Amino acid sequence: MGEDSSGGVKDASVNNLPHRPDRPADAGWLSIRMPADDKARAAAVEPLIGPLVDWLETSMPSGMVNIVDLGAGTGSNAHWLAPRLPFAQHWTLVDHDAHLLSRADPPASFTGRAGKMEDVGRILAEAAADHKNPTALLTCSALLDVLTAAEVDAVCTAAAKASCAVLFSLSVTGNVSFSPMDPLDAALGAAFNEHQRADGRLGPDAPAAAEAALRRQDMKVRSAATDWELDSTTPDLFRTWLEEWVRDAVEQDPGVADRAGEWLQQRRGQLEHGELTATVAHRDILALPG
Ligand SMILES: C[S@@+](CC[C@H](N)C(=O)[O-])C[C@H]1O[C@@H](n2cnc3c(N)ncnc32)[C@H](O)[C@@H]1O
Repeated sequence: MGEDSSGGVKDASVNNLPHRPDRPADAGWLSIRMPADDKARAAAVEPLIGPLVDWLETSMPSGMVNIVDLGAGTGSNAHWLAPRLPFAQHWTLVDHDAHLLSRADPPASFTGRAGKMEDVGRILAEAAADHKNPTALLTCSALLDVLTAAEVDAVCTAAAKASCAVLFSLSVTGNVSFSPMDPLDAALGAAFNEHQRADGRLGPDAPAAAEAALRRQDMKVRSAATDWELDSTTPDLFRTWLEEWVRDAVEQDPGVADRAGEWLQQRRGQLEHGELTATVAHRDILALPG
């Protein structure tokens, strides 16, 4: 427990979990992606954060905004969003990985909770009861692609039932473009996207599925492109992303393995010499109760 700068209580304790998830997110990765995420999300400020602030202002007469962040990891979403919401706030950070949550230190009053998507309805109700205030915003960042269609549906249904706003940030759309281009780019991209769909996960189909699920709940939906623009100013992020992108593509389609090795070597060289850029498309979605 500790005090945040606004005098709110920070409680980073989490319920005990028997084990970590099978495929835990890496805290180092969550940290090196933050500069690209911040830059990308600037494109959402006017079209999405403005209307969200207006809605919160009129819908939260108590002036205190209760926020639930799903798949919160080490708290990057709250780091970015909390200073952009001009209200007193309490965040409930939810993740199935208690180890990641224990490292969260966002710039707002918060509670960490171990939980999964099927718990969302209960978590929204408990957050409202704990803070004597309905949950005003259900949010997540960089989460939707690892969820199934049923999980996204459950989240959207729970949000509609709680009449809260929804902000899903930084969902990959599967579109990646490099400069300079290479004939192998498209085959690697297709294999990578297929890899992301394993085990029923939505992968690059997540933003469209989420928008459709929110519309089915009669919410007013709008969205904005929040693409990563990678270049040699963030070499560790760019190299790590490139290597994982190729690794997953080859795992999906071993037929591209030989050519992929050469491709990666060439791309690493271009990155080192400041000659490579990539756009990795993402989408942010805002939904407000109808
Ligand atoms: C790519 S990370 C994003 C973390 C953070 N939102 C950010 O933007 O840095 C995805 C997070 O979702 C969590 N996660 C994935 N599937 C989950 C599930 N079914 N239930 C709860 N958390 C989940 C992971 O543990 C991880 O922390």
